[in-house]
Amino acid sequence: MTEAAKFVLGDKNAELQLRHGTIGPDVVDIASLYKNTGLFTYDPGFTSTASCESKITYIDGDEGVLLHRGYSIDQLAERGDFLETCYLLLYGELPTAHEKEDFVYRVTRHTMVHEQMSRFYTGFRRDAHPMAVMVGSVGALSAFYHDSTDITDPHQRMVASIRMIAKTPTLAAMAYKYHIGQPFVYPRNDLTYAENFLHMCFAVPCEPYHINATLAKAMDRIFILHADHEQNASTSTVRLAGSSGANPFACIAAGIACLWGPAHGGANEAALNMLGEIGTKDRIPEFIARAKDKNDPFRLMGFGHRVYKNYDPRAKIMQQTCHEVLDELGIRDDPLLEVAMELEHIALNDEYFVEKKLYPNVDFYSGITLKALGFPTEMFTVLFAVARTVGWIAQWNEMIEDPQQRIGRPRQLYTGAPRRDYLGIDQRG
Ligand code: SDX
Repeated sequence: MTEAAKFVLGDKNAELQLRHGTIGPDVVDIASLYKNTGLFTYDPGFTSTASCESKITYIDGDEGVLLHRGYSIDQLAERGDFLETCYLLLYGELPTAHEKEDFVYRVTRHTMVHEQMSRFYTGFRRDAHPMAVMVGSVGALSAFYHDSTDITDPHQRMVASIRMIAKTPTLAAMAYKYHIGQPFVYPRNDLTYAENFLHMCFAVPCEPYHINATLAKAMDRIFILHADHEQNASTSTVRLAGSSGANPFACIAAGIACLWGPAHGGANEAALNMLGEIGTKDRIPEFIARAKDKNDPFRLMGFGHRVYKNYDPRAKIMQQTCHEVLDELGIRDDPLLEVAMELEHIALNDEYFVEKKLYPNVDFYSGITLKALGFPTEMFTVLFAVARTVGWIAQWNEMIEDPQQRIGRPRQLYTGAPRRDYLGIDQRG
């Protein structure tokens, strides 16, 4: 006997099935509500709405816990590496040594992009925001692989998935090189994923580029921290785009476009710009007051989260990584870090932030770390997109394989004009 919730409103009633997950809140299946009552539910921000069933990632917002296929983010970040996390997200299990070797081989040998792509970049202004270039270049991959992406064929879906994971770092590095007017650097098969990315971004033809193992490990860990995060705005965008049958490259381009917003992935760039605007510790109270002022649209970037009502576990690891990178580079007393740590201390003890459960999120310390690694602020969200590609593609695959999958088509509460007849222009006014 499955449990049901009884919905009664006047003469309208419906029995709505209750469904239980492995962990986390139960859900009330409302799919039959409109048919049985003529009513819609209304939840524009999806604050109480599950859009799908998933086995990939689980977040406990109150406890500040993030699990990928049941494994906690701190264990994955401390003991694994990014490509192992990619395998886990895609296939559902940690790889054996052989499985990992094969996966790394496959990803490594898909890192090159079609040579025509380099000409595609020359259409952009050099000062174009690299996220605009990423939306364009990833979407353009459809033109190179669209005819081989039969999304009903699991093999072709996995080839497309490997291609996306392998090629986004190359496209991102090309966007950076084009932005700064330096020549593109081809991927190298003898480097790890993170080493290869740093090499493609920072190597120049005039001298050898030396991989710093500590910085490469930090880069790899930053990729792990950003890999997937349940049904966030950009992942939901990818799922909705994919629900129409669009090819995966176009869907990932849609996800990149959504991630760009400052309320989402663009917050890392905005958070560093905010720390720069604050400048010194003595100006922090002024910005805290602005963040609390309902008449001021200013928000503390890198703070708050729809799900986390406790410390974002990724932010803790990011803060530790930030200190490791600054120590390795011999950067002492970074003024931005000083401001960030004081801002965090003040905010966490301010009743407004405590009452609203606003804590630092993954974007709060990432900007300082990425700046220290040598990236300009306009590249920060691009790096987030590189890492999140595996999460988007894993969720896209899961959606395509879901037997209940159908095109996403929300309804609405209409509050516009009632039906009325057309008036000729001489009858108006
Ligand atoms: C990411 O969803 C994900 O999982 C996203 C992500 C991922 O990995 O995919 O985790 C990545 O996007 C992290 C979030 C990055 N964004 C920022 O750091 C931007 C600043 N944060 C806010 O814009 C906000 O906290 C959001 C967008 C993150 C969450 O917004 P919600 O859930 O819609 O919350 P809300 O806007 O309704 O805020 C609740 C209250 C409001 O006050 P009241 O209207 O109730 O009086 O808290 C206040 C807000 O004004 N508030 C803030 C605040 N965030 C929320 N006040 C000041 N500063 C902030 N940062």
